[in-house]
Amino acid sequence: MENSIPDKKRSSKIKNGADSAQSPATQAHPGKRSAPVNGPNNGGATIGVADVDKLVADALARIAAAGTPEQLEKTRLNLIGRKGVLPLALRAIKDRSAEDKRRLGPALNQARTTVEAAVRQRALNLSRSVFESLVDDEAIDVTEPLPRTALGHIHPTEHVRREVEDIFRSMGFEVVRGQEIDDEENNFDLLNIPASHPARDLWDTFWLKKPEAFKESSVAAAKNRLLLRTHTSNMQVRVMRDRTPPLRIVNIGRVYRYESTDKTHETTFNQIEGFIVDESTTLGDLRGTLHTLFETIFGQKLVTRLRPSYFPFTEPSVELDMSCTFCKGKGCAVCKNTGWLEIGGAGMIHPNVLKNGGLNPNKFQGFAFGMGLERITMFKYGIDDIRWLLSADLRFLEQF
Ligand code: PHE
Repeated sequence: MENSIPDKKRSSKIKNGADSAQSPATQAHPGKRSAPVNGPNNGGATIGVADVDKLVADALARIAAAGTPEQLEKTRLNLIGRKGVLPLALRAIKDRSAEDKRRLGPALNQARTTVEAAVRQRALNLSRSVFESLVDDEAIDVTEPLPRTALGHIHPTEHVRREVEDIFRSMGFEVVRGQEIDDEENNFDLLNIPASHPARDLWDTFWLKKPEAFKESSVAAAKNRLLLRTHTSNMQVRVMRDRTPPLRIVNIGRVYRYESTDKTHETTFNQIEGFIVDESTTLGDLRGTLHTLFETIFGQKLVTRLRPSYFPFTEPSVELDMSCTFCKGKGCAVCKNTGWLEIGGAGMIHPNVLKNGGLNPNKFQGFAFGMGLERITMFKYGIDDIRWLLSADLRFLEQF
């Protein structure tokens, strides 16, 4: 123990001893403190192997006593730095007898190795204890429960949109996206709804003024009015013109209607549009496709049915119903006691639309359907008012 932490008296005694012996180390460092090259009575010139042992013991004690990385560094420089005690002692033996050299050289080299190892070990321990005190002072307990932070999550409509897309992809459909600001031509004319036709009244439309900057552009030149698309059918003819059948397309996106809102109507909502064009697809395929979609989304056995209807861009046209998911068809408030939920419009693509898409209606045929994404979301989660879905009301959203 006495050796491990040298007191002041002890180190000054060593220093004095070294000084009085005029060791090479202290000569090289006249102003430096503590250069314990050897025992008190043995000058550097006459250092013996026993002194080397003593020197090592003393060095180890000083290394052990270094309490901080900075102190240790000072001690290290003093012991084994370029002008440190050991290197100087090693250099000094060149003046000694061959016999001394033979005995002292290895002893001093061994001493240096021992001291170096001790310094390394001490440095490691010190950095560990520096780290440990940091751990004590600045530790963050990662296991401590934190106050709950509000994490966002996916909106129910978006959730169903992704699910629907996945189901269609698994059935071999390709997902396309279309623009929400469109022209009259793609939203109406090319879908067999000319301006004069009363069917236009089926879609209350937000018409847009063309900005001044557009006056000279090709958009303006087409004397084609701009609007917020009233349905996702606006992509049908574009896709037909762009690609060659067979086509299996699904297009989900936002549409706009200029009408008053109530529990089941919004001015802004999402539609799921899908269509197939090839040489053999029938209404039976439509029913099978949508049946699969609904049974997957609602996770239950359902009955679907088609009812005759009218759309300018399909012939024949149908309404698609599914058995009420709440009462299983028995009749309840949601299905207004009919046992059925109206879920969308559909039909076989009208020959005129195929022609507009550059396809020969004698060769190609296919179905198209459109339905409200919010309506399906409402049925899936039992939401009674479509307006909740755009409300951004946390009392509503946090329930999902
Ligand atoms: N686009 C129609 C609508 O918004 C729905 C529909 C799409 C009907 C495709 C038939 C075929 O009402």
